[in-house]
Amino acid sequence: MIINFLGHLHPVFVHFPIGFLAIAYVIQYFFKSGTEKSRLIDFILAAGIVSSMLAAFFGWMLSLSGGYEAKLLDWHRYTAIAVCIVSIALLAYKRYKKEEYRTPYYHAGFHLMMLALLLAGHFGGEMTHGEGYLFSAATATETVAVPEKQKIEKLTAGSTVSVYDGIVEPVLAQKCMQCHNEKKKKGDFQLHNVEALMRGGKNGKALVPGDPEHSAFIQRILLDKSDEKHMPPKGKPQLTKQEQDLLFWWVSHGGSIAQPIKEFGTNDTIMPFLSHAGKASLRDGTLKNIEPADTVLVNEIRKLNVVVVPVALGTNFIEVNTVNAPSFGDREALLLKGIAPQIMWLMMADSKITDEGLDQLKWCANATRLNLKNTAISNAAFAKIAKLGKLESLNIVGTRMDDEGLLAFVPTASLKKIFCWNTGISEKGVMAFQRKYPTIELDFGQK
Ligand code: HEC
Repeated sequence: MIINFLGHLHPVFVHFPIGFLAIAYVIQYFFKSGTEKSRLIDFILAAGIVSSMLAAFFGWMLSLSGGYEAKLLDWHRYTAIAVCIVSIALLAYKRYKKEEYRTPYYHAGFHLMMLALLLAGHFGGEMTHGEGYLFSAATATETVAVPEKQKIEKLTAGSTVSVYDGIVEPVLAQKCMQCHNEKKKKGDFQLHNVEALMRGGKNGKALVPGDPEHSAFIQRILLDKSDEKHMPPKGKPQLTKQEQDLLFWWVSHGGSIAQPIKEFGTNDTIMPFLSHAGKASLRDGTLKNIEPADTVLVNEIRKLNVVVVPVALGTNFIEVNTVNAPSFGDREALLLKGIAPQIMWLMMADSKITDEGLDQLKWCANATRLNLKNTAISNAAFAKIAKLGKLESLNIVGTRMDDEGLLAFVPTASLKKIFCWNTGISEKGVMAFQRKYPTIELDFGQK
């Protein structure tokens, strides 16, 4: 958090050393000599040194957030450090030599400092704006209007803004739209709005909802960086791991543009993009991998329109989500048994599941999330839910469950949160439960 904040100061601060040191250079070589001039140069050099060290520190913080091309970053770092060292040496030399400072060494040092400054600025610009930035303005035949969609501030787990508008599009705007927009259509592909994204590029559709493996849009960002088809191209600001995960997740969930963030508010992929994200994502302990789920069984379940996707890139743990399969019920739930050990998130909101279908939960030893929102389950389901030894988050919003069931419920130690508004549960019940289990947070919907 604080590292991010300090990192954001870099783009503001870099302009100070550039300004100070360049002014010192101008005064040194274009103004008449005299004691006043010498003292002025001392002062401006000192200001340049202090601000360049601050800028370097903020830059170092920024580099920790990742997403920059390693080679450019190295060059930028070395030249920036050279600016600091040479300017310090220059001022020290000048003060040491007193009146006789104007030696060939002094002038060489001054020129060297300016050179390092120009190079550091150049590499910095390439990193943020992409390679060839310096000359692109001179060669561009048209100016490109990149939609400046700012990150919508204060997104929270309860936001009604859609995942696309609030999170996906800002990422695309930052990392893709400078080449894929209304005017520039690299690869005949535009990304400035979702219709264009769905239309695809010169190789046809780039996004197959629900199927990241057949979506060029996703495959290209996952290609090795050295692959010439990798997006964004080499030398351009890259997607972070979290952003890659986000786009992968978004496509595997159907690439919907309407689904609001609040439907996925506690999702580890989405969480890092929300304010107060704080909570750790998939803790390493739980992510000790598991053998992949049986593909035959997975395909059988997918035939029912059930989304089955890895919870994150590179893991065999899966999310099973019935969003696109409203008729999913107890009979279909029998299919879960075969892939149960791999299920980490079981999302059955708005499905036809009943208490009986929840018998299958006893196989789901690794499930950390269970969503039963708007289903016909009753108090009897609590006993079955209690069998999920790793459960962390439970959503029973919009069910018939009530105070009696809640107060008889013996949750596992791992449970952290229950979403339970719009049920038979009353505020009194919530308070009584909270007294018994103070570490479990009950979300009763008061915003
Ligand atoms: C610096 C410019 C640039 C940036 C930034 C960029 N692209 Fe591209 N993109 C290109 C060029 C050039 C092509 C065409 C050449 C090729 O197919 O590799 C292309 C082609 C594509 C294609 C293939 C379209 C087709 O049908 O052939 C996809 C998909 C794509 N880009 C996705 C992305 C995504 C997603 C991002 C952001 C994460 C992105 N691009 C960022 C320049 C860029």
